[in-house]
Amino acid sequence: MYSIDAIHHDDARHIDQHIAPDTIALSVWSPPYHVGKEYERDQSFIEWKAMLRRVIDAHQTILKPGGFLAINIADILCFKDPSMPRIMAENISRRKRGDITREKVLEAMKEHPGASRYEIARILGCSEQTVDRRLKGNNIRGGKYEAQTRVKLIGEMLEGFAQEAGLYLYDRRVWVKDAAWDNSRWHTVSYRAVDEFEYIYIFWKPGTTIIDRDRLSKDEWVAWGSRAVWHIPSVRANDDHEAKFPLELPRRLIQLLTAQEDVVLDCFMGSGTTALAAIQENRHFLGVELDENYVRLSMAKINTLIGRGETRRFDFAEAL
Ligand SMILES: C[S@@+](CC[C@H](N)C(=O)[O-])C[C@H]1O[C@@H](n2cnc3c(N)ncnc32)[C@H](O)[C@@H]1O
Repeated sequence: MYSIDAIHHDDARHIDQHIAPDTIALSVWSPPYHVGKEYERDQSFIEWKAMLRRVIDAHQTILKPGGFLAINIADILCFKDPSMPRIMAENISRRKRGDITREKVLEAMKEHPGASRYEIARILGCSEQTVDRRLKGNNIRGGKYEAQTRVKLIGEMLEGFAQEAGLYLYDRRVWVKDAAWDNSRWHTVSYRAVDEFEYIYIFWKPGTTIIDRDRLSKDEWVAWGSRAVWHIPSVRANDDHEAKFPLELPRRLIQLLTAQEDVVLDCFMGSGTTALAAIQENRHFLGVELDENYVRLSMAKINTLIGRGETRRFDFAEAL
């Protein structure tokens, strides 16, 4: 069995083998989005779907009756579909600036060996994010550059998996991030919008749910508790993990949907954000993460936060 207040190096598909039934008051996580990140290489769309289905299915036992599963995810905006007709586009706009291509970035790096991404960006007259995207092959809509791509909606798929597992869609919220293009001198050759929002789907396990309106102040209810749209700036720094969500996102869910002493699970723990939010809210946490480096990273962050490695009944203010 997994110990509480710790991060475990394991596959999220196995959580129901290591967590006792009816333990978790809230499970909150953000899985791989199937958009070509480093940690999802070599996983086909079919395999990705099967993974999500299994992980959601595992929640039918481990969640407390009346408890919740909150999934943060986005639609796939560049879903590769070789069977679709090629989009025929004639670009008649005059471009004032030349495109920053991967070749141009590589050329500048060759000419200026040892220059940082920021210096290369300055030399090319673009943002550091553009340089990063060109090097990694990502584009601003959260996918790889491919010719035949369409938008793939994800919500109904998750709803179906949850319903098979006896969990019901209780609520959904939209997380509006700061616009990714705000500080990137970006222009496009299509009419598609840039990626600036994601979803939070909240599923409920049948049972008694305590409704305690005092968990939030009146101001908090007005600002976000009763609101379907949450404005929370995204995490820009990709220094230690390439897809972190902001601490405020799990923190709100924890404050809203759990009581003190409850156990909060994140089985795609990444850099440990959910655990930090749980500590902040005086809840217990349980984390699972497939990549050993991220297990170490998240435990280090937690230990720094609470000092002396003590992970039970901590006082967040004191730990700081
Ligand atoms: C979108 S990131 C989550 C980031 C996290 N919310 C944070 O703020 O740092 C998804 C994480 O899931 C991990 N992962 C991928 N497949 C997994 C699996 N089958 N079981 C557990 N973790 C997995 C990846 O290594 C990655 O760290």
